[in-house]
Amino acid sequence: MKVLGIETSCDETGVAIYDTGAGLLAHNLHSQIDLHAVYGGVVPELASRDHIRHLPLLLKRTLADAGIDAGRIDAVAYTAGPGLAGALLVGASVAESFALARGIPALPVHHLEGHLLSPLLAADPPAFPFVALLVSGGHTQLMRVRGVGDYALLGESVDDAAGEAFDKTAKLLGLGYPGGPQLAKLAEEGRPGQFRLPRPMLHSGDLDFSFSGLKTAVLNVVSAPDWRPGQAADLAAEFQQAVVDVLCAKALAALKKVGLKTLVVAGGVGANRCLRETLDAALARRGGRVHYPEPALCTDNGAMIAFAGALRFAAGERGAKIATVSIRPRW
Ligand code: KG4
Ligand code: ZN
Repeated sequence: MKVLGIETSCDETGVAIYDTGAGLLAHNLHSQIDLHAVYGGVVPELASRDHIRHLPLLLKRTLADAGIDAGRIDAVAYTAGPGLAGALLVGASVAESFALARGIPALPVHHLEGHLLSPLLAADPPAFPFVALLVSGGHTQLMRVRGVGDYALLGESVDDAAGEAFDKTAKLLGLGYPGGPQLAKLAEEGRPGQFRLPRPMLHSGDLDFSFSGLKTAVLNVVSAPDWRPGQAADLAAEFQQAVVDVLCAKALAALKKVGLKTLVVAGGVGANRCLRETLDAALARRGGRVHYPEPALCTDNGAMIAFAGALRFAAGERGAKIATVSIRPRW
């Protein structure tokens, strides 16, 4: 069975074809980073228009890469939310139209479910159950995952997401867009501990997070009269360490709470090297293991949506009987 996956929730156009027997047949991504960089953030209207421009081309190329024609697709999965309304509508319209034209099901997929299941696409996938740490630009969540569709929220950020904190702090330090990876790169040159930033909610006794105060603490440092731009790498390193300390402590607490030793990390911040090294070492000491998506599938992509759709299709889901383009930006 072959499932076409379409992702257009934010600033990446992603298309992929997943075959339940042969695995991922093809996946293509078009990033809009250059388009939004001059504005220092994603401009929703420009994002929608760029998805319109690239999605049909990517669709054609992905079918060609997979070596099949459109008639061989059995179902279409698309990101229905959460995300930017206009951007989501582009993917939903194309997916529903494609499915209607071919008389096949269209399955709306939750963007975070795509991220959450993406480590299962790896060569050595984790077995259920596991704890998932979802760390993206819009969400920071800990979930207990017993199987496809069986998710229990254990804790989440009460304000900014970890990726959002990285991006906003990068802006405070005058770094370009997208900020997260640039801040992480600068942090590699710095020394944590030269500044002392808080570890928000580290001892809150629950599995929730808070990152907006950390960003404010950075603002206070860079606004002080004795701040020198030459200290940016040290401040970046301390900021990164603070985020990693909290993410790691809460992930371990979540594993302890539900009695598991397998952690899955997904979402853009999961690409962070310091986070990976810290979690790997902590889990190794406890006889556990951390699973990540392959690096190319850490950030938004069509493969995770095709895969999540394929699992749902295999579980008997068939989508709406009458084609409807319905999106859920705040799902
Ligand atoms: O999952 P994703 O691609 O999109 C969302 O669904 O949000 O995550 C993007 C987020 C951004 O905030 C970006 O700054 C952050 O992931 N990010 C990183 C790194 N790479 C991406 N944050 C820290 N370190 C990185 N290496
Ligand atoms: Zn995402």
